[in-house]
Amino acid sequence: MKDTTFIERTLNFSKNLDIDFVKKIIVFDEIPSTNSEAKKLARKGEEEGTVVIAQIQKKGRGRFDRLWESPEGGLYLSIILRPDCSPNKATLLPLIASLAVSKTINSYDFSAKIKWPNDVRVNEKKIAGILLESEAHENRLEYVVLGIGINLNTDTNLLSEEIRSISTSLSEEIGTSVDYHSFVKKLLFNFDKYYKLFLDKKYDYIIKEWKNQSDTVGRRVRITTSSEQIIGKACDIDQSGFLIVIRDSGERKKVASGDCTYIEN
Ligand code: BTN
Repeated sequence: MKDTTFIERTLNFSKNLDIDFVKKIIVFDEIPSTNSEAKKLARKGEEEGTVVIAQIQKKGRGRFDRLWESPEGGLYLSIILRPDCSPNKATLLPLIASLAVSKTINSYDFSAKIKWPNDVRVNEKKIAGILLESEAHENRLEYVVLGIGINLNTDTNLLSEEIRSISTSLSEEIGTSVDYHSFVKKLLFNFDKYYKLFLDKKYDYIIKEWKNQSDTVGRRVRITTSSEQIIGKACDIDQSGFLIVIRDSGERKKVASGDCTYIEN
């Protein structure tokens, strides 16, 4: 049988994909970053439901402008969305993405947990990350690009020592490789479910599901933001996905974004 390329296989797969929000799949063997490409397309008017997938990223981007190491084997995709909602509700979209990722991983008999705001972890090691980028004008969202990076069949030996020590991949956890396209299908199916709930403004339900999947609430945490460090007990997340931390002084602090580390009691 003739060998088919990643692009051919993925385009064939996308023809039979029956998932409501997915309108188009654009595939690359290698690209600097699927988020950068999706942003470029969104600015030119590309429709909601366009998904950009790459086999390898050369300049994958993580939160806070970090590099997202993206060798072959990983799953790198970005989704263009144009939800009719105020920009302050868009903060829930990465939570939805992390929920979809963790539910998909759990379907392989794993207990993936979300560390606030949206790191997906298995056995306390990071397996996936989410990067939301958006543009708004006069309190109206123009577009949202939701980037999802998953160490699917990644050989973690290909990652730098610093990243390897805190990462795992699904194939390494399971002990065998995972079918790429059936994983993508399950992921997009799960995302579709939560995105519909989001558009229906079922925020309470989304937050409840997120809390069930997360192991952050109830933990003692250190949150590093651009301006300060907050140490205390994570006691809840609010309707925007912000973390509520009770400092040792008793002060209640709402945190919109930051790096979260669990600390022992
Ligand atoms: C993080 O945890 O820091 C977020 C990582 C997000 C990585 C994904 S991979 C697909 C998409 N394209 C990018 O350049 N970044 C996101």
